[in-house]
Formats: sequence, C-alpha cells, structure tokens
Amino acid sequence: MSHSTDIADYLARHENKPLLRFITCGSVDDGKSTLIGRLLFESKQLYDDQLAKLERDSARHGTQGDAIDYALLLDGLAAEREQGITIDVAYRFFGTDRRQFIVADCPGHEQYTRNMATGASTADVAVVLVDARKGLLTQTRRHSYIVALLGIRHVVLAVNKMDLVGYDRQRFEDIAAAYRELAKTLGIAHVRAIPISGLNGDNVITRSAATPWFAGPPLLEHLETVAIDRDESNAPFRMPVQWVCRPDQDFRGYAGLIASGRIAVGDEIVSLPSGRHARVATIAVGDDAREVAEAGQSALISLDHEIDISRGDVLASAASPCAIADQFAVQLLWLHDAPLMPGRRYLLKTGARTVNAQVTGIKHKVDVNTQEHLAATRLALNEVAQCNLSLDQDIAFAPYAENRALGAFILIDRTTNATVAMGRIEFALRRASNVHWQALDVDKRARAEIKGQTPRCLWFTGLSGSGKSTIANLVEKRLLATGHHTYLLDGDNVRHGLNRDLGFSAEDRVENIRRVAEVARLMVDAGLIVIVSFISPFRDERRMARERFGDGEFIEVFVDTPLEVCEQRDVKGLYAKARAGLIPNFTGIDSPYEPPEHAELVLDTQAQSTEQLAIRVVEAALG
Ligand code: ADX
Repeated sequence: MSHSTDIADYLARHENKPLLRFITCGSVDDGKSTLIGRLLFESKQLYDDQLAKLERDSARHGTQGDAIDYALLLDGLAAEREQGITIDVAYRFFGTDRRQFIVADCPGHEQYTRNMATGASTADVAVVLVDARKGLLTQTRRHSYIVALLGIRHVVLAVNKMDLVGYDRQRFEDIAAAYRELAKTLGIAHVRAIPISGLNGDNVITRSAATPWFAGPPLLEHLETVAIDRDESNAPFRMPVQWVCRPDQDFRGYAGLIASGRIAVGDEIVSLPSGRHARVATIAVGDDAREVAEAGQSALISLDHEIDISRGDVLASAASPCAIADQFAVQLLWLHDAPLMPGRRYLLKTGARTVNAQVTGIKHKVDVNTQEHLAATRLALNEVAQCNLSLDQDIAFAPYAENRALGAFILIDRTTNATVAMGRIEFALRRASNVHWQALDVDKRARAEIKGQTPRCLWFTGLSGSGKSTIANLVEKRLLATGHHTYLLDGDNVRHGLNRDLGFSAEDRVENIRRVAEVARLMVDAGLIVIVSFISPFRDERRMARERFGDGEFIEVFVDTPLEVCEQRDVKGLYAKARAGLIPNFTGIDSPYEPPEHAELVLDTQAQSTEQLAIRVVEAALG
C-alpha cells in the first residue's frame, strides 16, 4: 500500500470515532517506551518505512534477540523530536476500529514531573506503570498525585514485567490492593489493574495465556471501552478569547476554543471580567458558518454590537455567567529549582490572560508519599502545596473541578520567563468579593498639596554597612530643614516592630520588603516624602516595590559600596561574626545581593562624602 492511500484510508476510518486522550506515567525503567511502542505497533498505525526501520534497528542492536525491540521505536521518535523545536511533550496518535487515541509521551528525564503534568492536563485516562518486582515507588505516588491534581478520574494500573515474577497472581493482587488504597486517599474514582508484560505482549493487545487467573480485558480493549465522563458539553457556555480578529473595518470576531457548553446564533453572552452583554451575530468553525458550536471546537464569534473585549477575556452564557475574583485558594505544583517565595510577584497565566500574582500564604505542603500536611515557608522543586493566591486584577474563572480550562493556571518568573509552577483553582476566597475598595474624597493630591510638596519614595538599597542609613538620615534632616514632611523607614528599626517576626531567610526578606513597600506606599499616599533604607537584596522585590508607585514617584538609590569596604568598616561588628559562622545567611557572605541595573541614583561612598551624596539625593527628591 502506498503512503498516500494509507493516510486517506486512516482518515476515512477514523473520522467520526470517539477520541480518548491518555498519558503513561512511570519511570524509564518501568518499560514505558516498550509499552507505548507495542501499542502503536500492534494497532498498525505505523507507516511502513518506520516499521522497516524498526526491524532493521532491532536486528542490528539485537537487544531482544530476533524479536522487535519496541523501545527503539519510541527512541527513534524521540530523536526525530529533538531535531525540531524542543517540546516537552510529544503526542502520538493511533486508532483502532472503535476509538482514536492520543497518548502524551513525556521524556523521562529530570524535568519529568513538569512534562508529565503538561501531558496530563488534557488527559482522560492515566496509565500508571509499575514494575511487578518493585511495586509502588515514591515516583508512583508522586505521579498519581499529579494525575489526581489534574483531575484525571480513570487510572489503569499496568503492573508490568509480570514475566519476571513468574506471572505470580499474589504479587499482582498485592500491588493492585496497595494502589487502590493510594487512589482512595487521592480521590481517584476509577482504578483498573492489569497484569502485563510490555516485552512479551501479555495482556497488552490480547489476553495472555500466562495469566489464566486474570479475568479482565487486556490494556487496549480497556482503553477502547472505558467510559469517560466528559460533561463539558452540558455545562454552561464558556470561551476564553485567544485572539481578536479584525480583518477589516466592518468585522470584529473573537476566536477561541470553547471550553464548555454550546453557543448558538442569537444567544446572549456576557464578556468577563467587564460584565458587558451582547448577542451572538455569527459563528464560524474553521471556514464554515454555523448556527451552533460546542465544547471542544475552535470558534470565531461575532456580536450584534461592539463591546470592549480583548484577548484573555472570557465569553460566557449571560444566563449563567462564570464568577470573577482576584483571590483564590489554589493547589500548586512547584516546578522550578529556585524555591517559591510567598510575597514574591509572579505572572499568572490562565487561558490567554496574564496577570500579576502573589502567593500570599502557604497553608501547608503535602508529602506526596504519605498525604501528610506539613508546615512550610517555601516550596522546592516538585513540591505540592495548598496556597492562597492574590492577583492584581479580577479574572473570570471556574474551580478546576468544574472546568479544567478555566481553573488551571501556570506561574511564570517575571525575570527569566521560566514556567515555575502549575496550579488549579479550588475556590475564590470570600474576602475577595466581600472587601471593596472604599472611594475617599480626600486623596493623595489633596494631602500633598496642603504640605506643599510632591510625595516620593526614596528607596535606598545596598549592603549592610554600605552607608544607607547614614546618608538617609542626612537626607531627612535636609528635607526637614527646608520644610518638607518626611518619614524614614529603616530596616533595623522596622525589624523591631512591624517586622519583628521576620528573620533573614530569603523568604523572610521577600516578606520584609513586601510589607515595607506597602507601608511606604501608604505614606506616599499620605503625601509624605518617604525614605526607605533596607538592604533589599533581590531585584524582584525592588521591582515589586517600584510598581507600587506612580511614574517618577519611586527613586531607587543604590549605595554602591563594595563588600570589601563594608567589611573593613564593619561598624556593627556583624561581618566578623558572619565570617566566624555565627550569623548564617549574611548578605554578601552566604546570602546574595543583586545590585540594581537601572537605579535612578548610584552613590559611590568612596568618591564623595556622605554630605555631598545626601545633597544629590535631596536634589533628585525635589526635582
Ligand atoms: S533585608 O535584606 O531584609 O532588606 P534589612 O535591611 O531589613 O535586610 O536588615 C538588615 C540589617 O539587619 C543589617 O543592616 C544588619 O544590621 C542586620 N542583620 C542581622 N542579620 C543579618 C543578615 N543575616 N544579613 C544581613 N543583615 C543582617
């Protein structure tokens, strides 16, 4: 058969068949590649040339005698993948007479958790592989936790390498029982255990004679028949707007993947978070005009009149719109080497919307082995936790349990753009909808005017002993002498009161700066010239502070004294102690200082006197 008839044949046979998305989880040694390879091979959806190559390679490598080494098939595909753009998850398509399948194949390297989570986020079923000799491992628990986190309700426990335990029924039953226990604690509703050998093909495609005691279906048959409860079509209409399409003056359409429900021409929709209403004028799916479109389809919708809608907004049924909020209880899976720090600002992306977000508190992290809840002040790579999250604006959302598309999000580092976490929204915090911003008649301008000054925040940063406090003190004296209203927030002093509960771990410093930035903002709002003198060692938090203020209000003053000089001066004797190991996490010694890149003022304390430097700051403050 030629290639093109193959493809035509494939398309013809598979067009209207139901689709099952699944993911396989397990470590490299569990035989994941061999199993996927066998499924692809046996379901005869491989192109002839791939098959020929496989037979050649198997013969050449001879890893399995004369038999075909199915793992080579996937390795080949992996190599192919590496030549293109690096994507973390490869999706393999195959089909049988009853169903079409998409399997998310995640490479088993160190970033496995992240890839797995990506692949699992759209899957209906997870095939969790365990080695019959080893039983449940830490990884099995971790992967299953993620499976549950991402809302997959069906797990196939593939107890692999049964050939290596002599097809021992008891061994199989024990593993299956242990896994059912685990699944119960995780809230995974359906578990089907199947004894297999990926290598020999036992119970993969056909029932094996080696396990006469096993009455269930082989793996493929189970995947063909497992009932999946997708109720997206019956839920109310929701579509995150991916793209606003404006080919000419006369047409404006909103494109996106319908996350749930159906929409018909004439239906009334509401755009969220704005809350504006309109009726659907036209619907297109692909190039075709339609009367109706539904969950799973990518649609282009136009409205009967123009309302302000941009990328990231959610179109929802006006009769049952989704909620909007800016504070949430969430579950987070941390995916980055650098730990999560509460109070630090990240970007949150959900659907097509990106907003600033802060984890305001870690309620507890979860030991994925024991399900135990543990107290935590930070999160490390691959850790999971219940957290509170606060955004700087409202988003339209749905709890993840109701709608995966509207309840899932990722967090992105603002400096490196790395994806640092994935998460699910559990519910909106009640405080979010019950606390409103109170409009006040006396505002910042009025308060500043009566003081006859322009309020500002002068933010001093630099090492301990760099001279921040000395210069800040002189600046305040000069400003006061010329009739200005000021306040000096000094690190050492604020740590005696408001921030008495904080130490010098990275996460405590983040919180230290977050609080003082908020206080400084209130003081600027009160019309004052605020002088802040904190080491504030991290760029991220200084940027966060800057963003609390209006244009020109924030003046970053870098007191640029080299470590050697600070250490020589050692006014408080702290460097000597730190060097002696008596003060851990000391800035410049064993805790980092990230110098500013775009400070408004850089002060060289070796080149100029503190008096001269103070004059420069005052000039900038009044400029
Ligand atoms: S910050 O890093 O969180 O911004 P902050 O300015 O509040 O620090 O406090 C710094 C002051 O605390 C230093 O000037 C020093 O007197 C004192 N200190 C005590 N322990 C440490 C430490 N481990 N690192 C830096 N400063 C410390």
